[in-house]
Amino acid sequence: MSLISYYLKNIIISVVALLLCGVTWIIPFNLMKITVAPAVFETGGDYYNIVWETSFKGSGCVKYTHNGEEKTLWDSNNGIITSDDTVHSVRVPKEELRGNTYTVESQFIPFKFAYQCLKGRTAESEPIAFGGEEKEDDINILCIADVHEMEKKMHKALSFVEEKPDLICMIGDITSEMRTKDQFTKFLLKDASDLSAGAVPVVFTRGNHETRGEYAGVLADYLGDEKGKFYYTFEFGALSAVVVDSGEDKEDGHKEYSGLVNFESLRKEEYEWLCSLDKKDFGGKYKLVFSHEPVLTEHFGKDWTVPLKELGMELIVGGHWHDVKYIEDDLPVLRVGGNITNSDFEKEFNSEWAATMLNLNEGKISVKTVDNNGKILLER
Ligand SMILES: [Fe+2]
Repeated sequence: MSLISYYLKNIIISVVALLLCGVTWIIPFNLMKITVAPAVFETGGDYYNIVWETSFKGSGCVKYTHNGEEKTLWDSNNGIITSDDTVHSVRVPKEELRGNTYTVESQFIPFKFAYQCLKGRTAESEPIAFGGEEKEDDINILCIADVHEMEKKMHKALSFVEEKPDLICMIGDITSEMRTKDQFTKFLLKDASDLSAGAVPVVFTRGNHETRGEYAGVLADYLGDEKGKFYYTFEFGALSAVVVDSGEDKEDGHKEYSGLVNFESLRKEEYEWLCSLDKKDFGGKYKLVFSHEPVLTEHFGKDWTVPLKELGMELIVGGHWHDVKYIEDDLPVLRVGGNITNSDFEKEFNSEWAATMLNLNEGKISVKTVDNNGKILLER
């Protein structure tokens, strides 16, 4: 390309960009909206991921004041502010967010050229007062699993829960498949946002249904830890927790997976990580495991409860079985409910969906599970 045609091309691009930019500002509507309000995800380590969705692609940032300093943290990757996505994910230091107020902002970026950019309007959230203070006792943990698109029943069950959660644990199978971005934002992200109002941390534990479909591989970009993993440990005041990624529920060779899964190597890597953890790092008064498949005594040829017991874990909390059950064992198991149609509870009480609240207080882990009719299915 000659120098003249190179400059001519850039001049034309600049003029078109400026004209389009003018149009987006002249249109009397702000088409850039926050379509799913922010949720604050626990990912282990010292950072939360704040995630939200907008109506159009663009940039994303989180703003707050810390020690008198105004902070703006961007959704960026290797120095480049992400502008080509409708889902925004910003890592924020936990110690700066706890007990603080934050807003999120996204600017519409229709086109980003090499040397020019077309920018539209900005959408911003209301200020959100984030809790997340680490409590030393009386910790309420709302446990949600196996929503399977039964959000109406879930909210009905939650209308009978009086206690306010300090922490929300979404223990997998929030959706039934992960083929598209919409299935992530309209179910998993929206549920996290609706349940928490962006004001308490959300712990996401991957279920087997969140591994199914083309978009499943993208999830870790928003919800994974700093290494892009779904297994990690975290501390929340008096709670020391292990989050297990129990992966798919059948062998890799099963026909449902079309030869496109490799959970065998993930399980090997994760089991080695579990065995490498040091009991000294789990100093909390309460020690819980969150795993979508909570029955881990025979997990693809290995007893995963052996390293978990060595860490002093007290209870595995999970779902997957679509029932409500407390199983006494060396390391007890709690199955928290979710979709419980076709269970004995439906036959006996007409129960369809159940939510569980844990209360950690004075050294005791209390459990209360309530269904969508307000019936208490488990209390101990
Ligand atoms: Fe499941």
